[in-house]
Amino acid sequence: MTDHPFEESAGEQNAHASSSFSEVPAERKAALLSGRTFWETESLEEAGIRPVVMADGPYGLRHQSGRHDNLALFESDPATCFPPGVAIGSSWDPGTAARLGSALGKEAAARRIDVVLGPGVNIKRSPLCGRNFEYYSEDPHISGVLGAAFVRSLQAEGPGASVKHFAVNNQETNRQTISADVDERTLREIYLPAFEQVVTQARPATVMSSYNKINGVYASENRWLLTELLRGEWGFDGLVVSDWSAVTDRVAALKAGLDLEMPGGDMGHDADVIEALRAGAVTEEDIDAAVARLRTLAARELPAGGDVDYDAHHELARELAAECAVLLRNEHGVLPIRGGAHVAVIGAFAEHPRYQGGGSAHVNAIRVDQPLEEIRAIADEIGAMVAYAQGFALDGPENEELREEAIQTALDADVAVVFAGLTEARESEGIDRETIGLPADQVKLIRAVAAAARRTVVVLSNGGVVSLEGWHDEVDAILEGFLLGQGGGHAIAEILFGRVNPSGRLAETIPLRLEDHPSWLNFPGEQGHVRYGEGVLVGYRYFTTADAPVRYPFGHGLSYTAFETGDLVVEQTGPDSAVAQVRVTNTGDRAGKHVVQVYVSTGAGPVRRPLRELRGFAKVALQPGETAAVEIELPRRAFAYWNVAAQDWVVAGGEHRVQVCADAATVLAEAALILEGDRVAIELTLDTPVGAWFEHPDVGARTKRTLGLEGAPITEEQLAMVASMTMRQFIGISGLDISTDALEELMDVSRGGRPAPSPAG
Ligand code: BGC
Repeated sequence: MTDHPFEESAGEQNAHASSSFSEVPAERKAALLSGRTFWETESLEEAGIRPVVMADGPYGLRHQSGRHDNLALFESDPATCFPPGVAIGSSWDPGTAARLGSALGKEAAARRIDVVLGPGVNIKRSPLCGRNFEYYSEDPHISGVLGAAFVRSLQAEGPGASVKHFAVNNQETNRQTISADVDERTLREIYLPAFEQVVTQARPATVMSSYNKINGVYASENRWLLTELLRGEWGFDGLVVSDWSAVTDRVAALKAGLDLEMPGGDMGHDADVIEALRAGAVTEEDIDAAVARLRTLAARELPAGGDVDYDAHHELARELAAECAVLLRNEHGVLPIRGGAHVAVIGAFAEHPRYQGGGSAHVNAIRVDQPLEEIRAIADEIGAMVAYAQGFALDGPENEELREEAIQTALDADVAVVFAGLTEARESEGIDRETIGLPADQVKLIRAVAAAARRTVVVLSNGGVVSLEGWHDEVDAILEGFLLGQGGGHAIAEILFGRVNPSGRLAETIPLRLEDHPSWLNFPGEQGHVRYGEGVLVGYRYFTTADAPVRYPFGHGLSYTAFETGDLVVEQTGPDSAVAQVRVTNTGDRAGKHVVQVYVSTGAGPVRRPLRELRGFAKVALQPGETAAVEIELPRRAFAYWNVAAQDWVVAGGEHRVQVCADAATVLAEAALILEGDRVAIELTLDTPVGAWFEHPDVGARTKRTLGLEGAPITEEQLAMVASMTMRQFIGISGLDISTDALEELMDVSRGGRPAPSPAG
């Protein structure tokens, strides 16, 4: 046994399974394969299996001790609403994700929750996805680093995590039926790595399979996903739980590796399993393996639940929120607002903040900071004056009167701060947005206030990115708060007045137009399918590669101080790994935090690479004048692409540039590495293109000789034509007398001397 609370080897599990389950009738065991209630699993006392209690969610507990549902229609017990995924993503700080995880773990343990249903590490493929507020980023590396930090610290408090929604759940439209059609390289490079990182580095107790299909097969019935990849390749030994009501074919799901169907009760499919057992379609071992994993989960003990200090958690929620807000624009140093200023606070969100998303993640927040009050409190202390006007109606109808009143308020002020954004009704689980625009009445308000006020600051609250077009240039500053949780109002006030120096960075691109976005042509799909046509060129990977203009690039974020990056040294630490060392100095006059972003850029290899890809980052706190030496490890995977033929990660030989960037579009320093790369030796057959025979590291040169092409008077064009034919076609068409024995021998070498596969296999 290892010392990890959830770790038990497959052998140990099977031993338990056969030792203690053999006496239990199959019906009783099958009953364990779906929940007892909406949030609880079944128990089986004679096999030592107690009920396991689960609760949402990723940024605060949604535990319903009263009526149950997963749309958050019924109220849940009060809990701390920490900053949602969109904010944590923008913190670019695993420490922030870890602090959230640990506080959430404490709240869960205190309420005797065994499994917290989070984090969500799906990729923000489109800005329209209604659940982007729960997810971290359009980049898999950030998502994986933050997700792993969250899981590690949550589980250290006792409860298990459930990393979700595995996998390729990147939209809400038709999420229960849509097939996400995505090529293998894109799956491996974009949609799976965050899960891989969380599973392999943080060992979550459970993984939640998603609703959607992947290339036509439901995730919950996908044996490749749930067994070959998750358990086989990644070594996952926890429990796979379905998303709520995601299972359509329980028998197929069990065979694929889905252990627990949730919820249960009348919604479960236990009878199907028994029927399949009788018909021989599933074996008792299939059932026992799933039951053994449930037992391992149930065997984990929660620490004695202490009292939660909700005041301390509120303070924490404020501190975390302050790490996340992104200062997008700050002309004329309008921010921070100074003492003595006359401030017009405008916009209904200042009074009724939008601070979280809708659906299963929705938290019944214990208390919520109101930005207006928080601004007034600081203003009182520093001798600033505050006036307020509502500006717009939260339910969206045009309201000329409110706008007029806001303009009058702005006229008298040194600076107007407009709180704009989206209401929860516009962004929620189960629906995608149709536009990235702010409501028209808010755009009108911002423009009118900007025309009237001396200086204008816009504070945004939204779960997915919103367009800044039509008003961006008219305002002096924009603070993108996204959704900051219950302490967001305080954090925003502190940032506006400079008590906190903003340090968030965009974890997703803000496009100029929705139509520019790489997902636009293929979102949300049609006729049951959504084609991931942009391939690996998701988010900034596309914009930078195409050199297409954006409003703000991925990674962008300003500070009240200035940072200088220099002395980049990249040292190779192995044949295909390196470490980047860089010095960062705070050259301004305030303390602040800077995010060192390290990307790798290469054109090497036979596949199209994004211009650059984020491979490491670190957030550093620096006093004025202070310099820090930052080291970022670049393991082999930082240089690799997924090679479909080799079914493996491959480092292409050639130049790889390591770039320290201010954001995805701005390189500050770079250094080149020449990597030897991997030998890719595929197994050749007569149906392999001739070009691949030529490139084969073991037999390439001999192939040319065997075909009689070495030194032959053949033009580049002719050679290119030959290269794309299969060997069989070439033999047929070339008219050359090619020795099949010699080709057989070359194929044999390419297989490393192994026998040729039989025609059937
Ligand atoms: C959501 C999950 C959630 C579950 C339980 C589902 O609809 O997709 O994220 O954990 O409900 O509420």
